[in-house]
Amino acid sequence: MGHAFNQYQSPLQRSCEHAVSYIESLPERKIDQVATSEQLRYALGGPLPLEGSDPAAVIDEMVKNVDAGLIASGGPRFFGYAIGGALPASLAADWLVSAWDQNVPYYVSSPAMAVVEETAAEWMVELLGLTPGSAVGFTSGAQEAIYTGLITARNTLLQRAGWDVATQGLYGAPRINVVLSDQIHSTIKRALSMIGIGLNDIIKVPTDDNLRMLPEALRDIMANCEGPTLVCAQAGCIDSGAFDLFDEIADCVAAHPNAWCHVDGAIGLWAAASDKQKHLLKGIERIDSIDTDGHKWFNMPYDCGMVIVKDPSAITIAMGGNNMGDYLNDAMAKPDRNAINFGIAASRRARGVPVYAAFKSLGKAGIAAHLDNCTDLAKLMAAQLAEVEGITVLNDVVSNRFSVQFGTGDTASRDVLTERVVHRLQQEGYLYPSTSGYKGLKTMLISILNYHTSQEDVLTSVEKILAAFAAEKAALV
Ligand SMILES: Cc1ncc(COP(=O)(O)O)c(C=O)c1O
Repeated sequence: MGHAFNQYQSPLQRSCEHAVSYIESLPERKIDQVATSEQLRYALGGPLPLEGSDPAAVIDEMVKNVDAGLIASGGPRFFGYAIGGALPASLAADWLVSAWDQNVPYYVSSPAMAVVEETAAEWMVELLGLTPGSAVGFTSGAQEAIYTGLITARNTLLQRAGWDVATQGLYGAPRINVVLSDQIHSTIKRALSMIGIGLNDIIKVPTDDNLRMLPEALRDIMANCEGPTLVCAQAGCIDSGAFDLFDEIADCVAAHPNAWCHVDGAIGLWAAASDKQKHLLKGIERIDSIDTDGHKWFNMPYDCGMVIVKDPSAITIAMGGNNMGDYLNDAMAKPDRNAINFGIAASRRARGVPVYAAFKSLGKAGIAAHLDNCTDLAKLMAAQLAEVEGITVLNDVVSNRFSVQFGTGDTASRDVLTERVVHRLQQEGYLYPSTSGYKGLKTMLISILNYHTSQEDVLTSVEKILAAFAAEKAALV
């Protein structure tokens, strides 16, 4: 042990014990703790450490000091935003990713990781019924996948219009028409604002009561778009779980001389793995680029998203990895999978490994069962709430999420009551919904994405929601 590699054993063992104890506490743990930022700063901050400490003691102390500020978002009744848990095999695999500490953009820097990711990518394309041979890049999350997809879209559209972004930049380039669902997620707009397309001239397509893009409106808009045109739609709207109509969108794109469609599937793409739900994604294999998240509905630990591009050469050209310098020429010349061709990162951890472990541990049947369980539970919870006078479920529940308003008065009073019910539930800490908006209304958003959520969790949560509704209604009288 010349280099004292045995130093890892004790802190890793402590980490394992703390991790298991935290995870096993999740079903009972109060979801939102009460620590203030001052208390957390007091426990965690202070002067820069001048001397070192024993690694195991660092872990113990850190665990003690963060505890009061952790949100139990991996637990079975965390229903806010769009947050999933972590599957056992994937979490364990993720630890090994850190221990192996491989850098994966080049095959030569980790042949094993390259093949694991290649396999996970192929399984994913097959599972989701996408076009065979599509490129899959593993990203930090959907936002990075969106950048990657939209950069690929931008460069391809402009290339077709005779403009090479890689060499000419964007000054003087032809304009790209951007056509978006009026419900598109903020991360799509964030990416457009950062990749030189901008937000001023976006054309918004109106949506129906379930927040689904109106296909006839898209058709009319596209008929008037001359020149390169980017369309962004979504699979799984944040507030309704709705899926745009991909076959109809793909028809509009095919009818246009130079159009590209990107689908934000951060929340809903995985529904394509379920025989019961895949009808929601009819036509998805015709879409040019798609982003999704591993760390949402697929329950990977954080730092796991994917970009899928139907034409692998489009993303490979856009990522421009061929000129990385002499020291990487040999690496790039290898015929095997160089992940740098499918993503922005020039160095990164092996994010495909937890995905591979999930495929192995659940299999297609297990993955579909998890996805169906979440959707069935969302439908059950929404149906139970909708039976109660004064509770309105705003969307048809087709997937893992729905939006609710409380009260019967005018909009302002319903908004106040709804916010108060959600805040009360968050403070009680048994379940955790979040607030959101639905065509101008303040809402309670329920998102069921966790592998461990059971029918009992949902039924007891309904009781708590009804009690919170009754208490806040009484308080406002
Ligand atoms: C619909 C949708 N798209 C994209 C994103 C961005 O995903 P990420 O936070 O993983 O980058 C989110 C995040 O909640 C989302 O809900």
